[in-house]
Amino acid sequence: MVRERILTGDRPTGPLHLGHYVGSVANRALLQDEYDTFVIIADAQALTTNFDRPERLREDVLSVALDNLACGIDPGRSTLFVQTMVPEIAELTILYANLVTVNQLFHNPTIKTEAAQHGFEDKMPFGFLGYPVSQAADITFCRAHLVPVGEDQLPHIEMTRKIVRKFNAMYAPALVEPRAKVSTVPRLVGLDGNTKMSKSLGNAIYLCDTADAVKDKVTKAVTDPARIHPTDKGHPEVCAVFAYHRAFNPDGVSDIEKRCKAGTIGCVPCKKLLIEILNRFLEPIRQKRSDYEKHPDRVWDILRDGSARAQQEGARTMAAVREAMKVDYFTAPASSPESA
Ligand code: TRP
Repeated sequence: MVRERILTGDRPTGPLHLGHYVGSVANRALLQDEYDTFVIIADAQALTTNFDRPERLREDVLSVALDNLACGIDPGRSTLFVQTMVPEIAELTILYANLVTVNQLFHNPTIKTEAAQHGFEDKMPFGFLGYPVSQAADITFCRAHLVPVGEDQLPHIEMTRKIVRKFNAMYAPALVEPRAKVSTVPRLVGLDGNTKMSKSLGNAIYLCDTADAVKDKVTKAVTDPARIHPTDKGHPEVCAVFAYHRAFNPDGVSDIEKRCKAGTIGCVPCKKLLIEILNRFLEPIRQKRSDYEKHPDRVWDILRDGSARAQQEGARTMAAVREAMKVDYFTAPASSPESA
């Protein structure tokens, strides 16, 4: 039986953190056995918010590639590629742009949230507003069936489905309508308790952090503010450290919860335990990452091969799309005599 295809990926805006891991990367590594998996490093999408510093992309692309490889994405089984190295994605974006209204984009809740974060409200870049259209091209260029994503991406997948339906109905059924596969893991909060993890807030643990950096960050993490003494009864549901226990310490979490609530474990030992668990978990990832890091040429080769494979798929889709839209001028037979 032919395996279904997955397309998923990230914007390269820096190294990936534990939130990326639990939300998507772990799952993607598991799914590559079952699905023909394409992993996009969406550099053009990263540019929609970082267009003033394209010089960072080279490092960020490499870093996201390293993180994927370190977490078990196997270039022998999966296709890891760079968005701008597949020009068909840009071609499809132009064609899809007519199937979406500006109002639909303005009403996209994820666009709204991100635009506010970047202060774009009254000076929205066209590229930023339109990135969901480009994301529809990311997903459809390889005719993906399934898109594993976090919940915040659902509006984009919904838009992709709308574009596909409109395209297939208006022109000819050349495109595959994808389904979202939403991660059931709750979003991991920042170590400061902030719901958003970000580099600028300094509240994230990166997959490439050293053991000391992990120790440092967890030690400084915000816990239940109502707990002054270790014997005070805690409220694990408001504690960032507890959220990490829940994600990374499945066997110990219910015990921690009980003891925190009863005031029989203080925040210091609770953090120490988490540091141990996180470092034990991260060690093999760090090891694998640093092995690849010593040979960046190999990583660029993996990306080059992956992008070439992705481009082949893009070319197939483009041919079908051009035929559906009857803009396959040079390959279609010249107009037939009977219509003359
Ligand atoms: N928008 C996604 C994010 O911010 C990244 C992304 C780009 C993506 N293209 C995609 C995710 C296609 C899934 C499918 O994380």
